[in-house]
Amino acid sequence: MAATAAASLAVGADNPTRAEPNAKMDGQNRTRVTLSVNGKNHDLDLDNRTTLLDALREHLHLTGTKKGCDHGQCGACTVIVDGRRINACLTLAIMHEEEAVTTIEGLGQPGNLHPMQAAFVRHDGFQCGYCTPGQICSSLAVLEEIKANIPSHATGDLAAAASLTPEEIRERMSGNICRCGAYSNIVDAILDAAGTRA
Ligand code: FES
Ligand code: FES
Repeated sequence: MAATAAASLAVGADNPTRAEPNAKMDGQNRTRVTLSVNGKNHDLDLDNRTTLLDALREHLHLTGTKKGCDHGQCGACTVIVDGRRINACLTLAIMHEEEAVTTIEGLGQPGNLHPMQAAFVRHDGFQCGYCTPGQICSSLAVLEEIKANIPSHATGDLAAAASLTPEEIRERMSGNICRCGAYSNIVDAILDAAGTRA
C-alpha cells in the first residue's frame, strides 16, 4: 500500500498536467450569484451544488429556515420564492438569481409579528417550534393558492372556486410535517389569519 501511495504521489509530482484539470474544475464548480432575500441583495460565491437551504443557513446565517430531512419530505425548509412555496433543500441556490426569496425572518419580528405568526401564537399552533417557520411560509402560500383558485386533491368541484375549508387547508399543508402533532391548531391559526375563524 505504501508503495502504491508513493507511486501515485510521484505521478502527481512529475506530471503537473494531472493537477490542472482539477484546478479548472474547481473554478467551474463555483458561481458568483446575487440572491435577493427578504428585500436585500447578497453577493455570494457558491459551490454550484449549494442548496438554497444551505445558502440561507450557512452563508447568510438566516437560521430561521430549518433543515429537517434535507430530502424534500418534511417541509421544515419551506420558503417563498416569487410568491410560490418551495422546499429550499431541493433546489440549488444559483438557480434563484433575480428571484425574490422570503424567509420567516422577512415576515415579522418579535413585537411586530406578521398576522399569520400572531395567529399561530394565538392558537398554540406549535410546540417545539422546529417546523413552524416552514408551516408559516407554507400557509401564506396556501392562502394565495386558494385565492388564485388553484385546485388541490381536496377540491371537489373543479369548476367552482376553491374554498377555504379545513379540508382544503389540511390537504394543502400535508407536505409540512409536525412531529409535535400541532395540526389541528395550525389549521385553526390559518383559518383565523384568513379571517374565517375567530
Ligand atoms: Fe427540506 Fe425536509 S428539510 S423538506
Ligand atoms: Fe414541534 Fe411542529 S411544533 S415539530
